[in-house]
Amino acid sequence: LWPDSTTQDDDVRVAGVHLASLAATSGTPINVLDEATVRARCRAYREVLPEAEVAYAGKALSCRAVLRWVAEEGLSLDVCSAGELAVARSVGFPADRILVHGNAKTPDDLKAAVAYGNVRIVVDSLDEIDQLAALAQTRQRVMIRVTPGVDGHTHQAITTGTDDQKFGFSLASGAAEDAVRRVLTHPNLELSGLHCHIGSQVRRVASFELAARRMVGLIARLRRDHGITIGELDLGGGFAVPYLPEDDGFDLVGYAHRLRVAVHYECQAHGVPVPKLIIEPGRSIVATAGVTVYRVVTVKRGATTFVAVDGGMSDNPRPSLYGARYSVRLIGRPSPARRVLVTVVGRHCEAGDVLATNVLLPADVRAGDLLAVPCTGAYHHSLASNYNQVCRPPLIGVHDGAATVLVRGETEEDLLRRDLG
Ligand code: LLP
Repeated sequence: LWPDSTTQDDDVRVAGVHLASLAATSGTPINVLDEATVRARCRAYREVLPEAEVAYAGKALSCRAVLRWVAEEGLSLDVCSAGELAVARSVGFPADRILVHGNAKTPDDLKAAVAYGNVRIVVDSLDEIDQLAALAQTRQRVMIRVTPGVDGHTHQAITTGTDDQKFGFSLASGAAEDAVRRVLTHPNLELSGLHCHIGSQVRRVASFELAARRMVGLIARLRRDHGITIGELDLGGGFAVPYLPEDDGFDLVGYAHRLRVAVHYECQAHGVPVPKLIIEPGRSIVATAGVTVYRVVTVKRGATTFVAVDGGMSDNPRPSLYGARYSVRLIGRPSPARRVLVTVVGRHCEAGDVLATNVLLPADVRAGDLLAVPCTGAYHHSLASNYNQVCRPPLIGVHDGAATVLVRGETEEDLLRRDLG
């Protein structure tokens, strides 16, 4: 769960940086991100699937430094808004390595995508196909997002591959083939491939395998019925990460092997050429690189012991949105061996603002203590809000014993800047 770290009792270092000292100088809460872990995760994906294009899903955590690291590691990038594209542009992310997603891309999103140059736009509706055709000056590459009718067996809110939902064109209903036909009616759109994404925090390799098989089946039908050869098959992201010590890790090597076998077998069976594969990991690139440090504000001992910290659902809404669970560790001082079960809560004005229930902390946990929560690199910084006009914490990169502020913490002036009275 912990990135490249030494965790001896209270003395937790990440990439050689002492977290308690960092909290003392930078204040709390802080989101800490280990560069070496991010880079290692990028390399792991490139090594297990060297034939595939690996596109980092920037929605997990998008800031200039991270985009630079993934670009340097040779990854492509999945963006899902003009805003994410603007961050990519600010670091000169190469257009031909960018995929643009979104089920309801606004005219501004589409214009920004077309203006960027040679990106691939993953179209998600017939309206979008026509709007894009009207906008595109030269030939615009598109991919078609398909819902393959596969359940990723993950939280309902992040299940995206089943039928009858807002994403993509259903494979079962024939909508996917209609979308292909619609793209082909526009001479300035070039169909570069098909895409599916079955969900996030998916553990079962079998679900990815089934989606791959169905997508190859569609590729074969398109070839047989329309004479179209699909060159690229994007099978999305969604690879689970362990949040708790008892969670199983995702079997990336097994996934790569089974995916390759499934695609090659199906292509051979249908007599179609093997398309270039694309995958889009987000969470599994950055999650385990992140640790968040909070300071305890107060401890209330009753039927439940509530340990309240100086952050909460504004920097981590995942427990309230998805019932996500985290482990918590006291750092920065020696503590007795005796542990008690506590609930770690945030500072926000609602009872649902809980960070972790039933976690063991030293019995003498008290105001002023530091608590570290691992596995916060993905969908924390990117999901943070200003609820209760609370400033969003900084993102601090750590590498070779040095800490660098990647995104500074917000100030009250930041909060007031947009408020024009
Ligand atoms: N590709 C597409 C088209 C996606 O929509 C997503 C995630 C990914 C790739 C990357 O999935 P990953 O490898 O990160 O699982 N806020 C939620 C997660 C939402 C995922 C949205 N789409 C959470 O905190 O769990």
